Amino acid sequence: MPIVSWRDQMSLNYPPLDDEHQDFLNTVNQAVVAANAGDLQTMDEVFEKSYDYVRYHFAHEEDVMERIRFPDMEAHMNAHQTFIQNISEFRQKYENAPNLTQKKKIAVDTANFLNLWFLGHILSRDKLLKPYLVRLRNLPPRMNY
Ligand SMILES: [Fe+2]
Ligand SMILES: [Fe+2]
Repeated sequence: MPIVSWRDQMSLNYPPLDDEHQDFLNTVNQAVVAANAGDLQTMDEVFEKSYDYVRYHFAHEEDVMERIRFPDMEAHMNAHQTFIQNISEFRQKYENAPNLTQKKKIAVDTANFLNLWFLGHILSRDKLLKPYLVRLRNLPPRMNY
């Protein structure tokens, strides 16, 4: 699986969320490189960073959705929950792998999953927020965060 570069197409024109998405893209790419190299120490870091990301980013994005009155919020929140479940399952399999070969294979599967999920979620779900985010930019400056 290839390294994914940030593209304009991924941008919501809203830096508070775009910056977090770019950070996570770096983590996804780190996963791809580490999994291909069988670098399990970095994979451990990738799992930790993914958990950090879901904690702060999903909470942040869901708060933004509420403020812009995003109509499809429930489905989007469900997609976030599904991701949390999926990554937890990968983590569990990874931790319980019976041997090193299996563990490396699960690392590759995890990196593949992160890669596909990132592209799918950002381009099909997060992207839908873009037209509504204009509302935030039109709020008085103190509320525009
Ligand atoms: Fe999202
Ligand atoms: Fe997001």
